[in-house]
Amino acid sequence: MTLLLDRSTQQALLELKRVLIIDDEEPIRRLLGYMLQTHGYETVLASDAREARIRLDEQPFALILCDVNMPGESGMDLVRHILSQYPHTAIIMVTGLDSAVLANAALDMGVFGYIVKPFESNEVMIDVANALRRRRLELDNRLHRENLEDIVRTRTMALQQALEWLERSEKELRLSREETIQRLAIAAEYRDSATAQHIQRMSHYCELLARKYGLSSERCDLIRTASPMHDIGKIGTPDHVLLKPGKFTPEEFAVISQHSEIGYRILSGSDAEILKVAASIAWTHHERWDGNGYPRKLKGEAIPIEGRIAGIADAFDALTTQRVYKPAFSLDHAVDLMTKHRGEHFDPELLDVFFASLNDIKHIHDQYADQSPRGMIPEA
Ligand SMILES: [Fe+2]
Repeated sequence: MTLLLDRSTQQALLELKRVLIIDDEEPIRRLLGYMLQTHGYETVLASDAREARIRLDEQPFALILCDVNMPGESGMDLVRHILSQYPHTAIIMVTGLDSAVLANAALDMGVFGYIVKPFESNEVMIDVANALRRRRLELDNRLHRENLEDIVRTRTMALQQALEWLERSEKELRLSREETIQRLAIAAEYRDSATAQHIQRMSHYCELLARKYGLSSERCDLIRTASPMHDIGKIGTPDHVLLKPGKFTPEEFAVISQHSEIGYRILSGSDAEILKVAASIAWTHHERWDGNGYPRKLKGEAIPIEGRIAGIADAFDALTTQRVYKPAFSLDHAVDLMTKHRGEHFDPELLDVFFASLNDIKHIHDQYADQSPRGMIPEA
């Protein structure tokens, strides 16, 4: 049993000099009481276990002198009760010669000593002093240990609270970083009336494909967070090209194609992993599996995986949403169209993985549906 007492109560227990004397023989009770009182102890007398229990409930005792053989509840049963309920109390058994075996058993239970009747005053006072000294040492040790445990508990709790605060801060920082990226990406696309939903869909398609392809969850997270910046280079595309309705001339196409390199230049050179992934996506999301894409005509696996993923997600979103020059195609129609370019425009294995998750794709498409028709998005 732990004590869990405040400091003043602990000190009061240590200073306590009150002794409970339990014996069914009145002369023995009175004699013991007299001996102890003359040595400065406060004594309380009880004639049996029942009365002792009442006295124990009333106030604390430093020491209990307990007869072994009493009518009613035995001294041994009472001692067991005291040891479990009043662990700060020392006990000495008082016994006749014939109950020394029982007294030894009591020692095994945690009793501090026993006095055999008839006893001498000196013998009693030495046993009492020894028992109280041992009690004080044990109480000191126990209280010291519990104080230490209390300090450890308090500091552990403080540490846990600090960790929780840190986790919350990190989460807020991550969310704020992601939201900043999304808003910057929306700002970059705002000129050609792209919607926030396009950014969201693109981001979630990319994450879905990365996850289904088996990339690590850390890599999937990076791709999800970085992909909204894929077209950020459009801020360097002149309005007369970016906002032109209809088909581009070859010269205009060359101009708008530069958005990949412009995006790369804006995003590259950072040590932050997220910007490295974003730069890679911006640079490579218009490359084609067959090497006929732009800007560098990379081919096959020379195109970074995040670029191949973003290329599929971007094309799929362009096909399945409304543009000024075309309606939104159904998901099935988009799947048919893109499948025709499997192994040409798109990484065949990635495309298969993507279209194997049509239910998830539909869920993203519906969850982030455009709330109003999109404006013109040039075919960049
Ligand atoms: Fe683009």
